[in-house]
Amino acid sequence: MNIAIVGTGYVGLVTGVGLAAIGHNVTCIDIDQTKIQKLNNGVSPIYEPGIESLILKNIAEGRLSFTSSFAEGVYLANAVYLAVGTPTGSDGRIDMTYFNQAASAIAEAITKPTAVVIKSTVPVGTNKELQCLMNQQAGCKVTVVSNPEFLREGMALHDMFHGDRIVIGATDEKVIQMMEEINSPFEIPIVTTTPKSAELIKYASNAFLATKISFINEIANLCDRVGADVQEVSFGMGLDKRIGKKFLQAGIGYGGSCFPKDTLGLLQIAHEAGMTFPLLQEVIQTNAEQQRVLVSKLLEKMGAIRGKKIAILGIAFKPNTDDVREAPALRIIDELASYGALISAFDPVVKAEDVAMPENAKLSSSIRETLEQADAALVVTEWDEIKAIRAEDFKEWMSQAHVFDGRNCFNPDEMSKLGVYYEAIGRGGEIKELVAK
Ligand SMILES: NC(=O)c1ccc[n+]([C@@H]2O[C@H](COP(=O)([O-])OP(=O)(O)OC[C@H]3O[C@@H](n4cnc5c(N)ncnc54)[C@H](O)[C@@H]3O)[C@@H](O)[C@H]2O)c1
Repeated sequence: MNIAIVGTGYVGLVTGVGLAAIGHNVTCIDIDQTKIQKLNNGVSPIYEPGIESLILKNIAEGRLSFTSSFAEGVYLANAVYLAVGTPTGSDGRIDMTYFNQAASAIAEAITKPTAVVIKSTVPVGTNKELQCLMNQQAGCKVTVVSNPEFLREGMALHDMFHGDRIVIGATDEKVIQMMEEINSPFEIPIVTTTPKSAELIKYASNAFLATKISFINEIANLCDRVGADVQEVSFGMGLDKRIGKKFLQAGIGYGGSCFPKDTLGLLQIAHEAGMTFPLLQEVIQTNAEQQRVLVSKLLEKMGAIRGKKIAILGIAFKPNTDDVREAPALRIIDELASYGALISAFDPVVKAEDVAMPENAKLSSSIRETLEQADAALVVTEWDEIKAIRAEDFKEWMSQAHVFDGRNCFNPDEMSKLGVYYEAIGRGGEIKELVAK
């Protein structure tokens, strides 16, 4: 099948590469010419483990190409996937500007009957609106189908080939059949729903996962007060198959390009349908407060931090990605900077040009440089290299070994044995290995 993908970001690029890898001829289109240039040279504009070698392989085998021309990109396509960003706008609402621009460009470029596949996360009813736009603007028959994306950054290729489900929202039998044909080599269960249900499945899934995170974070805060250990509580809870282990790790709240915007997006969808959805409002509020927990712990212990060197370990919103959208680290850095701290941050993949840092914050090139002579360290992203720091390293390199761990990476007993002052999220009492006998 000939497929065009519009938008070569985290979703579009991974989708394009995945579809090429299962044998389709894929052309990826993006208005960002620098990205297209990089991709044509076999360089990935995003950090995603394994993606660059798959890009090179599929280019070499003649199934993958990149262009900034819509006419060239959609010319032969049986299906055009729309995978541009749908961020939260400055008014807090879902911003459909990129989506609408890309849709019009597709309508203009199409020269034969085509399916337009919505990969972007979009409000309920967008499928219908896009169908109307295509009926009015496209020169030939277009059938719109919803196909929301569930990949996790950092695990995106794994999820592409081993996802839990593929959701197809459509009513037209022919287009459903075509989508099944395109996706059948993945051997992932396919669920066919109405377009509106498909659109809502995406928001509901992300909002539910965000709810789990905010719930366990509140339990962690309770653990801090009553002296229980959230690692034990979540382990004990997660053994219950009705609850499950995943998304029960307490920390400093969710960030990234999806959960914050999709929870707000679902709230907007609910408001427009005449609902207030207090549960979801609370999840969002809890998360905002949780992102401040680490700084509160630091201030409580250290008092004024003006002129103190604070190390930030990890900037990306989670490990194995360079995505810093809504990353808790950036909020933390801004807040510490406003108190006059001198911030030294480290991340294995985030580069200086990816982040706007306040004047008194700088990016260091190694963990050691970040920690050296620091008065406190905040663990923000649980990269493997950060989890591998030893208590001895904190003790030896830092001026005062104060460690505030927002991702529960270390054993509190080991830290205190070596004289490191250590606070984590919701951990108290004696620490022991967790096993179910
Ligand atoms: N990132 C994720 O983990 C994830 C997961 C599931 C769903 N989604 C959804 O997928 C969509 C894309 O997200 P993303 O993270 O890949 O976004 P992104 O910002 O990484 O990429 C979007 C790309 O679209 C391009 N673009 C913008 N306007 C364009 C236009 N008119 N024509 C062609 N290209 C254009 C941009 O240059 C950019 O390369 C969003 O709706 C998002 O909510 C994202």
